[in-house]
Amino acid sequence: MVWLRGDNLGELLHRGRAIEVIAQPAFELIHVVDGFKYGDGMDLTGYQDGTENPKDELAQQAALMSGESNKMDGSSFVAVQQWQHDLSHFENLSAQQQDHTIGRTKATDEEIADAPTSAHVKRVEQDDFDPPAYVVRRSTPWIENQQAGLMFVSFSHSFDAFEMQLRRMVGLDDGVTDALFTFSKPATGNYYWCPPIGKEGLNLAQLMS
Ligand code: HEM
Repeated sequence: MVWLRGDNLGELLHRGRAIEVIAQPAFELIHVVDGFKYGDGMDLTGYQDGTENPKDELAQQAALMSGESNKMDGSSFVAVQQWQHDLSHFENLSAQQQDHTIGRTKATDEEIADAPTSAHVKRVEQDDFDPPAYVVRRSTPWIENQQAGLMFVSFSHSFDAFEMQLRRMVGLDDGVTDALFTFSKPATGNYYWCPPIGKEGLNLAQLMS
């Protein structure tokens, strides 16, 4: 997976094409998603996404491996899922139903203490797991041919936290399914290892051993 970021879609296209040429024939391009920032980091439903991400040092602890080896330290495990929204369905819900689907208020981004147990943030509340399941989410909205949704991306020092959250979302812990599934579904799901970056760029020593 290559994630290119920038303000200009044309420049991103050309950078992507250049990388594609360099990577051939070892790698073949099979899927491209154009993501973008909506407002100040919202999902296309209008809800703020990323609020409860750990910050600063806590973000580094959650996202990066440490204390393992100098080939692995600083690397990260990345889970990527392309979710496709049924925005018409979501728009037809009342404001309260929408808030209870997410578990936070759209207007003020506050957590709703008495939201149903199926509310998304009730399902995946990071402190609620044993051990706590912290990840750093960097998801981005996408649109293609009038289909739209969220490219969910989370970084962590192992896949354990992500898998614990996903188990609870699909109801494997207590039979309650995440209300997100009422308007969105994952079309893909992939796991990647993101190598550490050293002084001379990517440190790929782990792959050589
Ligand atoms: C359609 C896909 C998804 C949408 C629209 C979505 C949206 C949101 C929103 C609006 C929040 C509340 C604000 C925030 O703290 O960021 C949130 C929180 C969160 N989401 Fe998602 N999410 C999606 C999928 C997932 C998936 C697949 C996972 C993990 C398996 C996940 C894990 C989390 C976590 C850990 C939180 C923070 C919970 C907390 O500690 O309060 N989300 N999500």
